[in-house]
Amino acid sequence: MKNGLQLFICLAILLSMVEADPEPLQDYCVADTKSPFFINGVPCIDPKLVVSSHFATSALAVRGKPSTLFGSNVTLTNTANLPGLNTMGLTLARIDLSGNGIVPPHSHPRASEVTICLDGTLLVGFVDTSGRLFTQQLRPGESFVFPKGLIHFLSNVDSMKPALAVSGLSSQNPGAQISSLAEFTSKPSIPDEILKKAFQVNGQDVSRIRKNLGG
Ligand SMILES: *[C@@H]1O[C@H](CO)[C@@H](O)[C@H](O)[C@H]1NC(C)=O
Repeated sequence: MKNGLQLFICLAILLSMVEADPEPLQDYCVADTKSPFFINGVPCIDPKLVVSSHFATSALAVRGKPSTLFGSNVTLTNTANLPGLNTMGLTLARIDLSGNGIVPPHSHPRASEVTICLDGTLLVGFVDTSGRLFTQQLRPGESFVFPKGLIHFLSNVDSMKPALAVSGLSSQNPGAQISSLAEFTSKPSIPDEILKKAFQVNGQDVSRIRKNLGG
């Protein structure tokens, strides 16, 4: 009996961890991007008005210009540029990296992610909740999974050649929190005393990091 209960609780926890977005209740719910309502997701347009182009996008056809700060640019599908993905629990991301560019450590509160390296050589990795790091070097055609909610990164190991990756994410609205920016450039700021103690640095260090990150 006790074992049965433990098994049930384990299963419930496991199932809740792999849960993606809520199941759709219809074939499709093409996003009405002009709707004034706030619901869990985006309201649908009249199904009779749906056309093929609602399910297509060229949003990922163009290279994103890597930022000077990190040397990367992430372009996402969303309910605005691909309204047909509303309620489907999916996002596709195009990740362009310049030489030695990184997508800094970040997490997606609502999605797991599977990434495929299409060009260049990537070092990718995530840290689990026990503090263990899993990393892998990816060549074109090779893939890696980042479990939901865990902090992960991608980096281009080549200092000259750009790299390209594409990721699928298990939510139409994965959300992203870049750890360094969340902690040092939030508005309003996290009090210096907290960051000093959290990172075991002094006030000047905190100011310098804030300034370097554009906060
Ligand atoms: C990503 O690239 C696009 C297209 O070049 C650009 O408009 C956008 O500002 C870039 N984003 C960042 C964060 O640099």
